[in-house]
Amino acid sequence: MSKMHLKLKVNGEEKELLAEPRELLIHVLRERLDITGPHIGCETSHCGACTLEMNGKSVKSCTVFAAQANGAEITTIEGLAEPGTMNVLQNAFREHHGLQCGFCTPGMITRAHRLLQEIPNPTEEEVRHGMAGNLCRCTGYQNIVKSILAAASEMNAAKEAAE
Ligand code: FES
Ligand code: FES
Repeated sequence: MSKMHLKLKVNGEEKELLAEPRELLIHVLRERLDITGPHIGCETSHCGACTLEMNGKSVKSCTVFAAQANGAEITTIEGLAEPGTMNVLQNAFREHHGLQCGFCTPGMITRAHRLLQEIPNPTEEEVRHGMAGNLCRCTGYQNIVKSILAAASEMNAAKEAAE
């Protein structure tokens, strides 16, 4: 099968590669570009472990052909903070025990990051609704929600202080 020449911008870096039309974005990222933050859970669009941002939207990367991402701007968990540092959400997940085994965590945090762009001051119900596409097999939902709400209030307090 003939390969396609793809250009992607991943975490601010331009990447070029050849991919077969059948290849999924999650496989290209993990196996070819060594970006292993997005995890493979179900590969059937149910679990959200593979969540990333594509052109400013949350996307489950097991549902996207790499060819569909040609020219796209992609942010994975690796791109949410400088290497060796943690952003507000990552810190909040650590402080509020928002993770247990950690398998769902990159997808959770990447989705939560976009959710807080969409709704900067969400209610608990809005967090639960906005995170409904991300499953935690350790069932740590209470603390995940608590972490996201804590991150939101910290971000809003910082915004107010800067005004
Ligand atoms: S691996 Fe993509 S939704 Fe589960
Ligand atoms: S922390 Fe284990 S799957 Fe969510």
